[in-house]
Amino acid sequence: MPKVYIKTDDKTIEVAAGLPLIDMCEDHDTSILFGCRDGACGACMVRVIEGAEHISKMEDNERDFLETMAAEDNERLACQCKVYGDIKLEVSD
Ligand code: FES
Repeated sequence: MPKVYIKTDDKTIEVAAGLPLIDMCEDHDTSILFGCRDGACGACMVRVIEGAEHISKMEDNERDFLETMAAEDNERLACQCKVYGDIKLEVSD
């Protein structure tokens, strides 16, 4: 099972492959916050430290939003991400 390490919380959570990060956060206490849950508010922005290749591909709506926010290349919207392998991330500043 993929492992998600959240540096902000110093916590590792095992998830089923393909699980949306938002579902993981609903089942566990984490520092990742959610607002719209639809890729439109930025509340859930995280910085992927390792394993970006193990996260679902970015769709146009997420890419457009992150460009508008001038996000860093390794930032993603947690509400738009599914996990397929081990990743490390932290909550964006
Ligand atoms: S919760 Fe609003 S963008 Fe993810």
